[in-house]
This record gives sequence, C-alpha cells and structure tokens, in this order.
Amino acid sequence: MEPVTLHTARLELSPPAEADIDAIYDACQDPLIQRYTTVPSPYAREHAEGFIAKTRDWWESGSEATWAIQHEGELAGMVGLHRMSAGAGSAEIGYWMTPAFRRGGYLTEACRAVVDFGFSPDGLDLVRISWRAVAGNEGSARLARRIGFRFEGAQRQALVNGAGVRDDGWMAGLLRTDDREPQPWPVLADL
Ligand SMILES: CC(C)(COP(=O)(O)OP(=O)(O)OC[C@H]1O[C@@H](n2cnc3c(N)ncnc32)[C@H](O)[C@@H]1OP(=O)(O)O)[C@@H](O)C(=O)NCCC(=O)NCCS
Repeated sequence: MEPVTLHTARLELSPPAEADIDAIYDACQDPLIQRYTTVPSPYAREHAEGFIAKTRDWWESGSEATWAIQHEGELAGMVGLHRMSAGAGSAEIGYWMTPAFRRGGYLTEACRAVVDFGFSPDGLDLVRISWRAVAGNEGSARLARRIGFRFEGAQRQALVNGAGVRDDGWMAGLLRTDDREPQPWPVLADL
C-alpha cells in the first residue's frame, strides 16, 4: 500500500520518517507512554530507529498504517491502525501524544481523520475499528468515546505492556455504520 498523508485544520499526519527519530525517542521516555502502550521499556534510540523501518514495511505490506502527528513541524504524537489483514475489513486504533501536546484536542482531531480514512471506500474501506486500553486509562477511554466508540467490555489480564506488565483491558468498537455521537460508557462517570 502506498503511504498516505492526511491533513486536518491544525495538523499533518505523515508516515514516520528519519527526521522524527529524536522526537520519538524523547517522547517514549514518558512514563505514561511506557505504562499504557507497548513501546519497549526501557526505550533506547535504536528502538526509534527500528520503528521507522518497521512502519515503512507495515505500509508496504498493508498490515498497519502509522502516522506521525505533526503540528507546525513539531512531533505531537503517533496514531495508527493496526492488525489489518487482507480482506478482514477491520483494524485496531492505537495512539500516544507527547506530554506537551496533551489535553489540547489535537488527538481527537487526528483520530477523526484516521477513522474517516479507515472507513472510506477510497481509503482502507474498513467495516470495524477496535480499541483496547489498560483498564483505568481514562484519558484514552474519553478520547475513544468522544469520537464515537462504543464500550464493549473488559478482558481479564489481556494486555501486556513493553515492560512485561500484565493488565485487565477495556474494549470498544466503532462500525462504519455507527453515528459518531458519544455514547455512555459504564466505566466513565459522566455523559
Ligand atoms: C491518552 C492520551 C492519548 C490522550 O491524549 P490527549 O491529547 O489528552 O487527547 P485530547 O486532548 O484529544 O482529549 C481527548 C479526551 O480525553 C480527555 N482526557 C485526556 N487526558 C485525560 C486524563 N488524563 N484524564 C481524564 N480525561 C482525559 C480529554 O478531556 C478529552 O475528553 P472530552 O473530549 O470528553 O473532553 C494521552 O494522554 C497519552 O498519550 N497518554 C499516554 C499514552 C496512552 O495512554 N495511549 C493510549 C493507549 S490505549
């Protein structure tokens, strides 16, 4: 698959490149990224270098679509659609933001563009996008709910992070045919 760049009002979402290595390395020192994602922990510069090469292979094979979220030339975060297999029509969304760009609504904006591209017949033509997070990761859950994901349940001890820590997981999903209005989630208090 040819790598695709997406644009939103404030952001450019582009395939990760060598120029992003330092910023990815810095971001992945963040304790919350290490706690709640599967990035290697501890995170070395060679992990960032290897990640760029892997994302290139993933784009080529069509197994994953990964974007560096750029704001005015600065790396703000990473978002991807993972676990795509030919003809399956489904993928799983994953993301992190650098501490400096959190709580600004940037990721909401980026994820809406990624979901639109995922479901578009001119994009990935998906039917379903899944979401999973460590149970209790409220920021990630609120983001998923904000863009329309429906809570689908919990899985016991289903997730393992890059340091080998095992956690219960929350699951959610969004179908192409769903409206994107936020729905109540039993694990989130308000709404
Ligand atoms: C979770 C994370 C991706 C959220 O990014 P963000 O830039 O804050 O997202 P946004 O600004 O677009 O906010 C999205 C929603 O989450 C809420 N939110 C974000 N962080 C929150 C937190 N720590 N606690 C409660 N709510 C939070 C925002 O208020 C907003 O909710 P609303 O739309 O209902 O008002 C970011 O904190 C992060 O990178 N965390 C570490 C890595 C991680 O957890 N990745 C996800 C793995 S599943």
